[in-house]
This record gives sequence, structure tokens and C-alpha cells, in this order.
Amino acid sequence: MHYFSKAKLTELNNRYRNNLINSISGYKSANLIGTISKTGTTNLAVFNSIVHLGSNPALLGFILRPTTVPRHSFSNMKENGVFTVNHIAKNQIEAAHHTSAKYPEEISEFDQTELNPVYKNDFAAPFVEGAPVQIACRYVNDYLIEENDTRLVVGAIEGVYIDDKMILDDGWVQLDLGEVVTINGLDGYALPQLIERFPYARPKE
Ligand SMILES: Cc1cc2nc3c(=O)[nH]c(=O)nc-3n(C[C@H](O)[C@H](O)[C@H](O)COP(=O)(O)O)c2cc1C
Repeated sequence: MHYFSKAKLTELNNRYRNNLINSISGYKSANLIGTISKTGTTNLAVFNSIVHLGSNPALLGFILRPTTVPRHSFSNMKENGVFTVNHIAKNQIEAAHHTSAKYPEEISEFDQTELNPVYKNDFAAPFVEGAPVQIACRYVNDYLIEENDTRLVVGAIEGVYIDDKMILDDGWVQLDLGEVVTINGLDGYALPQLIERFPYARPKE
């Protein structure tokens, strides 16, 4: 196996190190965060760091890069309190990836891609039309990670829309039935396939 020592990692050129370190934490969730500004401009951006924080209360979180440059999704959700998390389907990956381009605040990524906003039940942030799972979230808090100036942003889940065919009888959501993709590193999109579901694991007798 190829070994990268700490010293070797430090010496690598930035692009190579970024690719390497971004890939080795494993397959990541693939989501689009939808927000809207005070002045009514929508914003859409791809995030691969959405994590489950807890089921009751239902919370999720994501890692925000340092706020040394404008972070429109973050400023919008702090401004009007809400955001949406939308799973990316196989047929949306090219457009979803393009939302990471640095557009000025007054330009909406919805207008620059084929992705369309959709509003539901008076929720004040746009969902992504056709996303197989769409989650309405309220911004709750954010915590500075001092080691690298990133933030863990915490959102409370206020509602969830799920494609009917993906929900099983016990509430488990089978993501591959919606062709929900996963992200490898920062630019690779893959389509996982379910192998098996297991019962709750207990110690051997
Ligand atoms: C695959 C992928 C995953 C990304 N994940 C994150 C992430 O988890 N956190 C983050 O702050 N930026 C992430 N980004 C970068 C944002 O998409 C990018 O900075 C975007 O311009 C943010 O838009 P905004 O400023 O309108 O919020 C990711 C980019 C790509 C291509």
C-alpha cells in the first residue's frame, strides 16, 4: 500500500493533498441547500457534509467553510431563519455540482442551472423540484471549530417530503430507490446500491 507520512502530506502540492484528504473520509452525503435572502434572491449550493445529529428532537448539521469570503447560504439562513436540504438524484448531478460556482449574491444558482425552486406549505425557503428527499430546516445554532475556522451549523428538522416509493413500512428510507447519489471527494458522484439490511446487533451469547 502507498504510505503518506505526515511530513509527506505537508509537502504535497495543494491540489493533490486536497483531493487525497477530501476522499479518504469516505463516501459523503450529497445535498443541495436552498435559501432565500431578505431581498428575495434565492440561493442554492451543494454540500457534502450534512450529518445526522439526533432523531428526537430531529436535528441535522453541516460543516461550513471559513467565513473569510461571503457565504450566501449561511447568511441567508441566519437572516430569515430557515433553509432546505435536498438530496441529489442521479439526473441532477451536473447542475448540482455547478451550484458550487462562486456567483455574486444577486445571482441565483436556480437561474444558472436547470434546477427549479418549489415552495411548499408556506415554508419560507425554496426546495429543489424533483429532489427525492426534501427537508425543511430551521437554523438553530453554529459552533466555531477553532482548529480551522470552520463551523458546525445545527438545523432543526421541521418537515420532510419523501418520494413515496422510497419509504418502507418501518419508516426506513431506501435511498437507492430514489437514485440518490453520494460524493467521493469534492468532485466525484457515485450511485450506491443497497446490499443488505441487518437486525439490531446484540452481543453474542
Ligand atoms: C461536492 C461539493 C461539496 C461541498 N461541500 C461543502 C460543505 O460541506 N461546506 C461548505 O461550506 N462548502 C461546501 N462546498 C462549497 C460550496 O458549494 C460553495 O462554496 C458554494 O459556492 C457556496 O455557496 P454560497 O456561498 O452561495 O452558500 C462544496 C462544494 C462541492 C463541489
